[in-house]
Amino acid sequence: MSAGRARLAQLPAYAVHRIATIKRRLLAAGRDVIDLGAGDADLPPPEIAVRTLAEAARDPKMSRYAFQTGLPEFRQAAARYLERRFGVAVDPVTELLPLVGSKEGLAHLTFAALDPGDGCLIPEPGYSPYMGGAVLAGATPIVVPLRPENGFLVELEELAPAQLARVGLVFLNYPNNPTTAVAPREYLERTVACCARHGIVLAYDNPYCEITFDGYRAPSIFEIPGAKDVAVEFHSMSKTFCMTGWRIAWAVGHADRIAALQQVKNFVDTGPFLAVQRAAAATLDAGDGIVRPIVDTFRRRRDAAVRALGAIGLAVTPPKATMYLWVPLPDGIPSAPFAERLLEDEFVAVLAGSSFGPAGEGYFRVALTVNEARFAEAATRIARTLAHARQAV
Ligand SMILES: Cc1ncc(COP(=O)(O)O)c(C=O)c1O
Repeated sequence: MSAGRARLAQLPAYAVHRIATIKRRLLAAGRDVIDLGAGDADLPPPEIAVRTLAEAARDPKMSRYAFQTGLPEFRQAAARYLERRFGVAVDPVTELLPLVGSKEGLAHLTFAALDPGDGCLIPEPGYSPYMGGAVLAGATPIVVPLRPENGFLVELEELAPAQLARVGLVFLNYPNNPTTAVAPREYLERTVACCARHGIVLAYDNPYCEITFDGYRAPSIFEIPGAKDVAVEFHSMSKTFCMTGWRIAWAVGHADRIAALQQVKNFVDTGPFLAVQRAAAATLDAGDGIVRPIVDTFRRRRDAAVRALGAIGLAVTPPKATMYLWVPLPDGIPSAPFAERLLEDEFVAVLAGSSFGPAGEGYFRVALTVNEARFAEAATRIARTLAHARQAV
């Protein structure tokens, strides 16, 4: 097998794609599907985004190639947001790069930061493009299980010294998908220090930093002293502003690392649609007023979903952040067959814990993508599948 094919063969099936295929079949058969799978809420994008995009689409200049430079006003708005929200000052020209959604940036960073054979540390359960990027770039994945006992944190110093020495890049994501864990400041400080000591690039994936509850405030990694020397942070419009399909995000970090990522992207894409960059800039500048009602909606959904699952015997601690619940399954019920039966018999899509890697076993993830009444209906259906699964144990 050629090297490229061998790399593809290392990649697992992509769970969200699989669900979409089954969902299409169920919908075609007239089934009432409730999709709690992908992190793709049913809420509309902000009005200012839609209006600005519509106007920008009429400007012929917006239809030209964006290239990697993109629209200066988007870079500047993203830099203003970082300053306003986290007190982090960055140069919008050299330290910030527009992305066609953060997913591609995360995957492409592996090509920018690693040579074939270098170690890439991947938390499991975790977002699939970390593994996808590492494998496709020919790096060596070093999978670290996230465990509830230590708050689902990756403890670099717990790796064997020889293994730590091989790590060139680590992916961290707090607030975390799928476990919903958040990272204490002290943890981030010692992790940044460890990356600096060992020359490790820290990819800090931060798309959920605005979806936080009960007074919790998620930091930027650049609030941590020394982070500029080691980190590239990824921000996205997708979740905060319900703009998943718009494909607009940005990376921020040391100018050398951003230049390296840009050089990779020079050869694989030509940047996000300029009209989308204009709309994203206007949305970012419109500020908190837009974000607050979206977060309030997720908080209400979280509370209702925790209550509904509790009522059917699935205890979940309300998470401080993200648009997910990471739900422990009763002992002995494997997550993949459970999720499959739930979808095929009850038409409710969730993600099996094991679809995030074997260390995700024992859980399933629900996304807070539907309103409270729909979730209540989903919980009734989940209860039926659970009852069948319990009988089979
Ligand atoms: C942890 C994490 N990072 C990044 C993303 C990707 O977001 P984007 O839409 O910007 O590609 C997601 C989306 O689900 C995610 O869960």
